[in-house]
Amino acid sequence: MRILTRAIAAAALVLSSGALHAETYPARSITLIVPFAAGGPSDAIARLVGQSMSQSLGQQVVIENVAGAGGTAGAARAAKADPDGYTLLIHHVALAAGASLYPKLTYDTMTAFAPLGLVNSGPMVLMSKKDYPANDAAALIAKLKADGMKATLAHAGVGSNSHLCTLLLQKALGVTFTQVAYRGTGPAMNDLMSGQVDVLCDQSTTAVPQIEGNTVKGFAVTSKERLPVLKDLPTLQEAGLKDFAFTIWHGLYAPAGTPPEVVATLNKALLQALDDKNVQARFAEVGTQLFPADQRTPAAHQAQFAREVATWQAVIGKNEAKN
Ligand code: MLT
Repeated sequence: MRILTRAIAAAALVLSSGALHAETYPARSITLIVPFAAGGPSDAIARLVGQSMSQSLGQQVVIENVAGAGGTAGAARAAKADPDGYTLLIHHVALAAGASLYPKLTYDTMTAFAPLGLVNSGPMVLMSKKDYPANDAAALIAKLKADGMKATLAHAGVGSNSHLCTLLLQKALGVTFTQVAYRGTGPAMNDLMSGQVDVLCDQSTTAVPQIEGNTVKGFAVTSKERLPVLKDLPTLQEAGLKDFAFTIWHGLYAPAGTPPEVVATLNKALLQALDDKNVQARFAEVGTQLFPADQRTPAAHQAQFAREVATWQAVIGKNEAKN
């Protein structure tokens, strides 16, 4: 009888501590892993949204840059973290493309993460160093085609958006460039600005401020429509690459197994951040967009993620985006 009483008491304790955990989450600061170096678009979006989420959660969202291997190093760290809502990940298309590009990942892309919600989507922008001898998209395309391996194209690691854009460009032009890999767009952009590399195709989030600041030259956007904040730049389709279309997006993830009530709390905080007028104004300034309200649920994020994994599986499988 004494054993039974103890067992009931222990079970009650476990249940009540579980309830307490759910009631008090978050009780301490939350780490948000950015899988690229500081100063790039993923970092910028994470800091903006993370700061707003800190306010609604009442706890600091602390950014940790875990860069390397095209964003898969940070993803691996997040996949192995305790599923308690205190370690999160922001990631983009590279998380989906990595499933096909990296045969030896230490996590299963489709099952390792609990999607929390879609954050933003936007185009990439084709840029060059200031003294690159081309002044419009047609001239840039002709120069890249003529130069092939002589042209140096920076990117943020195999599978990153800037890498995928470079591969799509190689395919469209029928040439191979000299690729220079960095741990994120932050350092890649620094080298573009100082003239160490010729060209970078990367997200509008960090491209727009540099083009406006006249530190690099902007040529074209990868979306099907022009970007209002860079309205003078043509789309790559207008510039003659008729099938070129590449739009990227970020999502917020927790490790799989995170309790549903924690997922719900984090999704709510994300939605509040996306409703924050400061966040919306900054998104508009750098040409990145919110997803429609009905697509901001974890379920919509899961569906988008599954579609994207399949898309890149097909592209990479058909050898359309190989080194
Ligand atoms: C990319 O190329 O995938 C990103 O721009 C990397 C980054 O956010 O730094």
